[in-house]
Amino acid sequence: MGKNKIIIGCQWGDEGKGKIVDLLAEKADITARFQGGANAGHTICVDDKKYILHLIPSGIIHPGKVCVIGNGVVLDPFAFKEELDFLVSQGIGYDNRLWVSPAANLVLPYHKLIDAVEEKNRGTEGLGTTKRGIGPAYVDKVARHGIRVADIFAPDRLKKRLEHQRKLKDKYLTGSDDERADLERTYKELLKLADLFKPLVVDISLLLAKAFKEGKSILFEGAQGSLLDVDLGTYPFATSSNTTIGGALTGLGVSHKMIDEVIGVVKAYTTRVGAGPFPTELVDEIGEQLRLHGDEYGASTGRPRRCGWLDLVVLRNSVRINGVDSIAITKLDVLDQLDEIKVCTGYQLNGNEMTEVPLDLAELGHVKPIYTTLKGWKSDTTGTTDFSQLPKDAQDYLNFIADDLGVKIRLVSTGAKRNETILISV
Ligand code: GDP
Ligand code: IMO
Ligand code: MG
Repeated sequence: MGKNKIIIGCQWGDEGKGKIVDLLAEKADITARFQGGANAGHTICVDDKKYILHLIPSGIIHPGKVCVIGNGVVLDPFAFKEELDFLVSQGIGYDNRLWVSPAANLVLPYHKLIDAVEEKNRGTEGLGTTKRGIGPAYVDKVARHGIRVADIFAPDRLKKRLEHQRKLKDKYLTGSDDERADLERTYKELLKLADLFKPLVVDISLLLAKAFKEGKSILFEGAQGSLLDVDLGTYPFATSSNTTIGGALTGLGVSHKMIDEVIGVVKAYTTRVGAGPFPTELVDEIGEQLRLHGDEYGASTGRPRRCGWLDLVVLRNSVRINGVDSIAITKLDVLDQLDEIKVCTGYQLNGNEMTEVPLDLAELGHVKPIYTTLKGWKSDTTGTTDFSQLPKDAQDYLNFIADDLGVKIRLVSTGAKRNETILISV
């Protein structure tokens, strides 16, 4: 297994990345988040405890392990504090092992307000965002009037930049009685956080380069999924960051040479939360069954996730874009009760058959999936830790996926808990 691994979601997010990162973090020295923000919800279940992390890297649960947040993340400082307080209340400390880039852009209350207003204005064309202010914060970053972590320590500069926001966002802020529009309040609240952030801020690029030189191992934690990538996903039904591999390099300031193995996380079926095309979606009893058995409700927003069959066309695309070396297949146990399981191996569009995603991903809304039907195994795989102990039909299902994608299976997850996992050739 490669020393420095990157964990990337291969579908539309919620593939179970948090569980996989937590599992692999035990053997890594550093876990690094590089993009997205508190729109992410990464669930980790250890024994009877459940942690849902939004901003803090999933390696934090392991005592003594270092975690870093890169410049590519949009950081909601108030959500960050809440998450730290929660961890501390659970007996998980972060002194001298959590570091934040001063160049990370902040998600501030007005970004969340704007996110909500813009969603409302889109009406029936809404994207179904998490309303965590992600899009508006990345807009500010790219327009080069964002406010960054480093600005918290420079009160005069911060004040000036916030005042400038008033001009830029006049139509959202002026006359609003929403407290998120109150820039003076935001200013005061931000200054209160200076003491929290001050000891955490370091040059993340340098920290990682040094660690790499010293032979330490780094685990890169992706958020969202490849189909939500702002450039390569189902735009405009996407998030606002690069969720695919390039995001790790620009979001942390690291070289591609620091990544030895790309692990794609693949849920054994497909889910999507929010609007946008989803060719294999099941709006029937089986879809309901997947939602029920998979407990498919958003870890950040609680929204019910849309459920459907596994889509190999989508996965081929993610494997290619990210250079996936191996896959971690999660939630196999959720399929335990099905008589038969369908896998999408191609699409039909305007009378043509295709095995790759259409040039215009918006066309995904019009394709008709072509399915191969496999036999279900109809037995309980929950907690299985040995591949050979899986029913033959479950093994066939997994091998069918790996063969099609031309990648190795590194890991199969058979339950939410850390130990409910089959590790293959680690
Ligand atoms: P992430 O965003 O990719 O980290 O995934 P989420 O945490 O949003 O969603 C994955 C959900 O599935 C969480 O509730 C996990 O606890 C749960 N989960 C992960 N792996 C498995 C598994 O193998 N089986 C079952 N039943 N649940 C799992
Ligand atoms: P994790 O890391 C699933 C989706 C939202 C919406 C779209 C845009 O837990 O896998 P945004 O708030 O980012 O502007 O919303 O992206 N989305 C996610 N879906 N998992 C996530 O993160 C997501 N983060 C954003 O539902 O469709
Ligand atoms: Mg999630």
